[in-house]
Amino acid sequence: MPKSSKKRLLALTVNGRPTKVKVSPTWTLLRVLREELHLTGTKKGCEQGDCGLCTVIMDGKTVNACLVLALQAEGKEIETIEGLGTAEQLHPLQQRINGRHIRAHPPHGKGQMQVFPGAELLIEGQVLRD
Ligand code: FES
Repeated sequence: MPKSSKKRLLALTVNGRPTKVKVSPTWTLLRVLREELHLTGTKKGCEQGDCGLCTVIMDGKTVNACLVLALQAEGKEIETIEGLGTAEQLHPLQQRINGRHIRAHPPHGKGQMQVFPGAELLIEGQVLRD
């Protein structure tokens, strides 16, 4: 295994929690959030920076997590959709979207849930806080 592909320790803050995780230099922030930290509210879409499904807030600015190498997040504060509220106490925006899910009639057929991009919630939540 080439030396550059060895995992390194990444220290960052995710949804207010100091977090350390071993990452490969080639991994994206999206991969780390979803596969290492199990924060699957950040969705994987195009992985090319086009769809915005992977949007998170990094040090107060929205970024596409699929375009950020994990090591670029060293020392940064990351906020994901999970950071807006808790399972016991949803953020008002999450409550609003939950209602939409229940009433949604997706074009894909009966019984399928509409996947609502967490990105919109994060951006809206950030605007409301600012
Ligand atoms: S997955 Fe589409 S912009 Fe990141």
